Amino acid sequence: EKGGWSSFMAKEISEEPEAVAKTLLGRLVDHKVRLPELDSLGEGTLENIDRIVIVACGTAAYAGMLGKYAIEKWSRIPVDVELAHEFRYRDPILTERTLVVSISQSGETMDTLLAVRHALEQGAKTLSICNTQGATIPRDSHAVLYTHAGPEVAVASTKAFVAQITALYLLGLRIGEARGTLSAEQIAENAAELLAIPEKIDEVLVASQSIGQLAHWMTDTQSVLFLGRNVGFPVALEGALKLKELAYIHAEGFAAGELKHGPIALIEPGQVVFVIVPSPRDPNSLHPKVVSNIQEIRARGARVIAIAEKGDAAVLPFADEVIPIPLAGSLFEPLLAVVPLHIFGMELAAAKGLDVDQPRNLAKSVTVE
Ligand code: M6R
Repeated sequence: EKGGWSSFMAKEISEEPEAVAKTLLGRLVDHKVRLPELDSLGEGTLENIDRIVIVACGTAAYAGMLGKYAIEKWSRIPVDVELAHEFRYRDPILTERTLVVSISQSGETMDTLLAVRHALEQGAKTLSICNTQGATIPRDSHAVLYTHAGPEVAVASTKAFVAQITALYLLGLRIGEARGTLSAEQIAENAAELLAIPEKIDEVLVASQSIGQLAHWMTDTQSVLFLGRNVGFPVALEGALKLKELAYIHAEGFAAGELKHGPIALIEPGQVVFVIVPSPRDPNSLHPKVVSNIQEIRARGARVIAIAEKGDAAVLPFADEVIPIPLAGSLFEPLLAVVPLHIFGMELAAAKGLDVDQPRNLAKSVTVE
């Protein structure tokens, strides 16, 4: 039931903090990662795998891209992320030391299911990250790590996305723990970051209340671009997908570093560009690079909407709008930065009088190839 909400999507966005909290529940205890459900992968699997392949479609694949950043950083195992429908048909190289991690909210997506079955036939280990108890993909996999976002009704995935990222980060910490690539202190630090996320998303929900107005003046907009770098890149892709599916607007997400390799030619006066700005405290110093990207597009007349850390003064002179997010470690920023983009997609669809929960031509779970 929708409760007092105008749509299931509005309700589900409001449940993003809870989706993260419930997915963490009982899994971070005494600075240790407890995921007994991974035991059914077989003893020694986490220590012995030499490669991870993440397979998923749509929003779940963007969660997978974020999983790659975290798992590689924490466990030093190479991770590839592939769209399940591409993976399945190119005879991928898989061995018994490959862990194939599928991500699916519904657990019924045919493309993802076929990728998992192919991995099983090739002798790989399979782990399903899924939001639906007893669905086909987890039943067919060696192990399942459930996300506990609760039922997601709106076609556009929102709370399941943040829960998937949370589950992938837990997995990354667990593998880092098993392989000794993370110290107890590092696990404790990252666990604290994760545990703080639900409250920070609550703050973002409050700070995002002006997005409805932003959406209102954009009902005639024909095209919106999204730029992000590093972990901001999958967030940009997610923001663009939401606009396509909900508001039927041409939208594209780019890696900000790619701008000068082509996309900057698209910038003309009035072009709306959302930019996901890394923290000025970012250890990779990506912040100045993204700020200079903003200056470049601003100089060509772009209308810049920046999603930036609270108090980031460097962005203010160059952005038409700034949506502030609370301070968090770099890897954790996507869990905050994506929330305004979910709200924006929903608000723009609503402002255009479209069906927010049931966009045209789409089904909640895609059970055909
Ligand atoms: O149920 P799944 O997570 O396997 O679904 C995957 C995609 O079809 C899904 O995320 C789709 O991209 C959403 N409609 C995006 O909001």
